[in-house]
Amino acid sequence: MKYSRIIGTGSYLPEKVLTNKDLEKMVDTTDQWIRERTGIKQRHIAAEGETTCDLAEVASRRALEAASKSVEDIDLIVLATTTPDQVFPSTACLLQSRLGNHGAPAFDVQAVCTGFIYAMGVADNFIKAGSAKCALVVGAETFSRIINWEDRGTCVLFGDGAGAVVLEASDEPGVMSTHLHADGDYANLLHVPDGVSKGYDVVQANGAFVEMRGNEVFKMAVNTLGQIVDETLEKNGLDKSDIDWLIPHQANLRIINATARKLRMPMDHVVVTVAEHGNTSAASVPLAFDAAVREGKIKRGELLLMEAFGGGFTWGSVLVKY
Ligand code: ACO
Repeated sequence: MKYSRIIGTGSYLPEKVLTNKDLEKMVDTTDQWIRERTGIKQRHIAAEGETTCDLAEVASRRALEAASKSVEDIDLIVLATTTPDQVFPSTACLLQSRLGNHGAPAFDVQAVCTGFIYAMGVADNFIKAGSAKCALVVGAETFSRIINWEDRGTCVLFGDGAGAVVLEASDEPGVMSTHLHADGDYANLLHVPDGVSKGYDVVQANGAFVEMRGNEVFKMAVNTLGQIVDETLEKNGLDKSDIDWLIPHQANLRIINATARKLRMPMDHVVVTVAEHGNTSAASVPLAFDAAVREGKIKRGELLLMEAFGGGFTWGSVLVKY
């Protein structure tokens, strides 16, 4: 088997919706500022007690159903998250138990907003190497848990959700290529500065929160995503016009527009869910992908470019013949 192929997708958003108008009552911001600078109108927020694994479970069950696969068919679970339920076991193992799968390797990958792209890269390579035949790949986040709801520079941007795909070994393409990168020198521009080993700042009695130098992140994201588009096309000997759909990480409409311009891709062939979902980090690409599949926009045989950029910095892309 030369390729891994996406045979089903699923996603889930928590019930509670937080609108820009709601945020106006929480911090010094306006609906207009948020829409103009980010394109975001609303985001979904997990209920109290609702965890990343809860969201991942619903998305995974929907993906399995769409793929017509049972839980026993899965021989690999890779879950991307920055907001695991517990320190350990991994959220992938918690998910495995919920689904009722026994024995398949299950582990988390942590690449923040690029997490799903990394998870796809890992699962694709497992399948191509013959180490797995049918993989469940999940991006799931309760990012709202690491947000400082008094910081207007970050709290307006993020939301919660989960997306999943089932990948199967195939002689037909499939995932054409995956491209993963990181540069840890930029850690301080976008990070949660506290953690398990380093300890938690006593000043932040409630936990550890995202800190971001938004303007610098913005510029790096635009430049880097432009480069990853070029790298992906070059590796596959493709022209910009060969790509049918761009499925970008949903961080900011202005970043999405810049990448679409670079690809000369008309916006009606760019999947945009940022207005309704906000930035759901590792869940953003599979959520957008599943929405477009279920709306009947993306058709079998089309060429899809998924890309993301996030904390680390990390960035990457997946080119898929769907
Ligand atoms: N409401 C009103 N005003 C605000 C808000 C807010 N929610 N947040 C910041 N401002 C103010 C700032 O204080 C600043 O005021 P000042 O000029 O008086 O100092 C002004 O707005 C402009 O701030 P900038 O940070 O320069 O605004 P910018 O146009 O860069 O937009 C934003 C900020 C939306 C955060 C943008 O930089 C961005 O999207 N960056 C990318 C961040 C991102 O997406 N990170 C997620 C992970 S990485 C990724 O997924 C790509």
